Amino acid sequence: MASAGGAVLELQKNSGSWAKVVEEVVKMERKIFPKHESLARSFDEELRKKNSGLLYIEINGEVVGYVMYSWPSSLSASITKLAVKENWRRQGHGVALLVAAIQKCRTRSVQRVSLHVDPLRLAAVGLYKKMGFQVDTLVQGYYSSDRSAYRMYLDFDSE
Ligand SMILES: CC(C)(COP(=O)(O)OP(=O)(O)OC[C@H]1O[C@@H](n2cnc3c(N)ncnc32)[C@H](O)[C@@H]1OP(=O)(O)O)[C@@H](O)C(=O)NCCC(=O)NCCS
Repeated sequence: MASAGGAVLELQKNSGSWAKVVEEVVKMERKIFPKHESLARSFDEELRKKNSGLLYIEINGEVVGYVMYSWPSSLSASITKLAVKENWRRQGHGVALLVAAIQKCRTRSVQRVSLHVDPLRLAAVGLYKKMGFQVDTLVQGYYSSDRSAYRMYLDFDSE
């Protein structure tokens, strides 16, 4: 499904739009994710890490969604965050962001992209499955003592 209108942009470190985009993303983080799942406090730091990137969709100057990814080693990359503003959902932006992030990971020559997601996040789990991700295992207590996560992965070889 095509994303309705917004191109996927890459946040350039040290660019003029850095502060504005990070501010909008942090606001969305706070709104969408509970504290223990939120990167709001450490976002700036997280993004300045060498092997990480942030892609976002901007429509009429408004950031409507973002995806964060990292490649800690040459073996695998991870999708560390994906979110679309509530009133912009179900328009293909989630898919557009995820496809773009997977492409970025591909250029790093990794064989696997993995991620963690709360099984209760049905929209996200549905989206990841639709994109070919498979559930690897359930990691007990991943987010907090009573909240687990699916570890999901997509292998480029098996596509
Ligand atoms: C998950 C999320 C990013 C999806 O964004 P989106 O822009 O609405 O996604 P899309 O419009 O591209 O949807 C693509 C597919 O995902 C699945 N999906 C999306 N929303 C869904 C929902 N509410 N219920 C079930 N499946 C859903 C569907 O398969 C959908 O395809 P379809 O519209 O052809 O049925 C968005 O719901 C979100 O930000 N959720 C809160 C944050 C979150 O859970 N992030 C992931 C954990 S880090």
